[in-house]
Amino acid sequence: MDRIFLSPPHMSGKEQEYIAEVFESNYIAPLGAFVNRFEESIENYTGASNALALSSATAGLHLALRVLGIGEGDYVLASTFTFIGSVSAILYQNAQPIFVDSDESWNISPGLLKEAIQKAPRKPKALIVTHLYGQVCKLDEIIAICKEEGIYLIEDAAESLGASYHGQQSGTFSDMAVYSFNGNKILTTSGGGMLVSENKEWIEKAKFLATQAKEDYLHYEHKEFGYNYRMSNVLAAIGVAQMEVLEVRVDRRREIFELYQKNLCAIHEIQFMPEIQDSRGNRWLTTLTFKHTNPLKIIELLEKENIESRPLWKPMHMQPLFHDALVIGDGTSQRLFETGICLPSGSSMSDQDIVSVCDIIKKVVL
Ligand SMILES: Cc1ncc(COP(=O)(O)O)c(C=O)c1O
Repeated sequence: MDRIFLSPPHMSGKEQEYIAEVFESNYIAPLGAFVNRFEESIENYTGASNALALSSATAGLHLALRVLGIGEGDYVLASTFTFIGSVSAILYQNAQPIFVDSDESWNISPGLLKEAIQKAPRKPKALIVTHLYGQVCKLDEIIAICKEEGIYLIEDAAESLGASYHGQQSGTFSDMAVYSFNGNKILTTSGGGMLVSENKEWIEKAKFLATQAKEDYLHYEHKEFGYNYRMSNVLAAIGVAQMEVLEVRVDRRREIFELYQKNLCAIHEIQFMPEIQDSRGNRWLTTLTFKHTNPLKIIELLEKENIESRPLWKPMHMQPLFHDALVIGDGTSQRLFETGICLPSGSSMSDQDIVSVCDIIKKVVL
């Protein structure tokens, strides 16, 4: 049997045509028309006013912190239940993370967020929230807390492109937000990211920093340091082709989730990641927890059948890298990590692939 991957790239079929256009124009690098088109397609789809195509979402978060003036010794709140790329920029800026645990939504707990703000040694300047596995977090409450406390809100929408809350796209609720086009995401450019904001000046500043902070002279003049963080025109061409099928990809990922649910509904010890009220996740990955079964046993068995699956993210406060960071938690994310699994969820999977995965799980659990 061919390997079933967790979330492999899924091309629309238009990518090579657009890449050929790039080659014909010889705008291979650095920038070019497809970069603008890709940014516009993100703006049009999400409703974000300003988008900036970058080499990664991690780079986007770095630029966001820099533009918002977060630096040495500042405190930045963040979801602990996330991937390292969500928070590594806090370290790039020599700032201090304060990790906040999840609630029953699996995403950041607004109650613990309030507690974290109270317990912080100094007022935190920003909060980075992750919309985990493509499900949006409790934005109404989080926005209210950030407004009341005067804390910048940054959405890590790396995994949630196409997800919405009250009908509004994730990534458009905050001061700044990022989407990722890493190889395993719902859309991919092989690697890449997009920074979005309502604030044009911030995006202009981020663009300046992303292109080596080159001043506007004929010669190369620098008053501050920047980065080489822009996306190439070749990759943006892939992005434009991928954006054309975003809606279809979201529908298929949601369908895959529903098929898993249907196939595994007899197993009462399984709980799927919930979706909060009035939201529509993109179900980037189908994730679930077991009450009694060790998920590592399932991962091992699936691997024997050439099927890739993974544990849930290991929370940041459990990482050796952050052993001395402040964490406000009640153990929820640790429990999720220890009992949960990500199932193969690529939009190119067949219905039969899902049945095969479920049959293996049923062999162990039922
Ligand atoms: C939640 C989350 N944040 C940030 C990132 C970083 O994205 P990138 O790989 O584009 O830097 C990823 C994935 O890679 C992610 O899953």
